[in-house]
Amino acid sequence: QDDDDQLIIDAGQKEFGAASCESCGMVYSADSPEDKFQHNQFHQRFLDSIKFVGWKKERVVAEFWDGKIILVMPGDPKYALKKAEEVRRVADNELGFQQVALNCPTKAKTYLFINNERLVVGCLIAQNIRQAYRVLAVPQTPKDMTREDFMEHHRAWCCSTSPENAMCGVSRIWVFSLARRKGIASRLLDTVRSTFIYGSPLTKDEIAFSDPTPDGKQFATQYCDT
Ligand code: ACO
Ligand code: ZN
Repeated sequence: QDDDDQLIIDAGQKEFGAASCESCGMVYSADSPEDKFQHNQFHQRFLDSIKFVGWKKERVVAEFWDGKIILVMPGDPKYALKKAEEVRRVADNELGFQQVALNCPTKAKTYLFINNERLVVGCLIAQNIRQAYRVLAVPQTPKDMTREDFMEHHRAWCCSTSPENAMCGVSRIWVFSLARRKGIASRLLDTVRSTFIYGSPLTKDEIAFSDPTPDGKQFATQYCDT
């Protein structure tokens, strides 16, 4: 079943001359001048935004064979806050948030996953919260539903109506499209749980996701179950 769907998508993409850029991940039609122009506009800006030159003082909170996680806190040097902000914009752009400011930028902690090629390939923004609404299990998405339909119909009921205690709210989680399904989001969350409150690791129940996307729900359900 899945294989059939894949073939149809591939055939469809060939017909439109769809290409996906190996460095920025953007899917566009190589036959369309507008698309090519849009890609050119996006490509360099995106790569500049996720480029990480390295800082004299980095708060490294986790290290892995394929990268490391650094934490940016309110009050950190300007260059660090600027990078966190740049990556947040990239994430917001993809999440469809139209440059919404954070609820409380002075309290947000930003976790950045930096890969060995010195790119920020993951970003998680966490804030202290008192109460949250639990993310309910993800139902199967009908195959013929577009992403937009899904968002339209399902964003509203993705959380339960009774508040529960939580300690840490995840207001953004984003992984670069070409680096997904490698456990980067999971490792970001594990790291948040162990470092968010000094000396007191959080359980999965003490983490809440705000307004999750379909991808976010799939991930959160999986992460919280395991
Ligand atoms: N569909 C189904 N299952 C998924 C998906 C998905 N899109 N993403 C993750 N999972 C599940 C899988 O079971 C996966 O394990 P597997 O790869 O062994 O099957 C498990 O979750 C762990 O996934 P990770 O590899 O840790 O997740 P990843 O690094 O790929 O990041 C994320 C997931 C952050 C949702 C990414 O897809 C993304 O950035 N999407 C676009 C932005 C977005 O929608 N972010 C969430 C917004 S909600 C919020 O910010 C509060
Ligand atoms: Zn590109």
